[in-house]
Amino acid sequence: MKIKKYENKHHNRVIISVLVFTFVIYNYFVYSSGTETLAPKLSIEAIDGQVLWQENNCWTCHQLYGLGGYLGPDLTNITSNPQKGENYIKGFINSGVKSMPKYNFTDEEKNQIIAFLRAVDQTGYFPNYKANLQPNGWVEIDYKSTDSTAQQPNK
Ligand code: HEC
Repeated sequence: MKIKKYENKHHNRVIISVLVFTFVIYNYFVYSSGTETLAPKLSIEAIDGQVLWQENNCWTCHQLYGLGGYLGPDLTNITSNPQKGENYIKGFINSGVKSMPKYNFTDEEKNQIIAFLRAVDQTGYFPNYKANLQPNGWVEIDYKSTDSTAQQPNK
């Protein structure tokens, strides 16, 4: 009896050591793999556009990367859509439609919103059918641009 008790204690220590060790190793890989590319820098113009996007509640009806309200369509990749683009977006902002209010924005403000949407568009695709699940649990996504200057229009 006494010997068994001793063995169990010993096993527990080994198991806990292995768990702590794998936890530390796992965290090392999670936090040391490059996440810098996930946070593109916004230009001043795009930041102003983001403020307009938030203050005018565009997000209550529209989604970016599938997140937001669902009355209107997802706008993640609208600026690079060959059938849409800048004037198309301005048209919607100027006139609205039945279920979207019209906005009396200045030209500068419209350009700011477009700069914001363009910066979002450069970060990737939505939906991203090319996402590739890695054995370590990370999802390797297909970035639109690896050229850092493309993500910083003002630089
Ligand atoms: C009350 C809901 C609502 C709000 C708020 C709203 N929208 Fe919309 N928006 C819509 C709907 C609904 C449509 C789709 C209309 C249609 O296609 O007939 C739309 C369409 C659009 C389109 C065209 C999308 C496409 O792919 O055809 C753009 C661009 C757009 N909205 C931009 C904006 C911006 C920018 C704002 C904020 C300044 C905004 N919307 C605020 C409801 C809204």
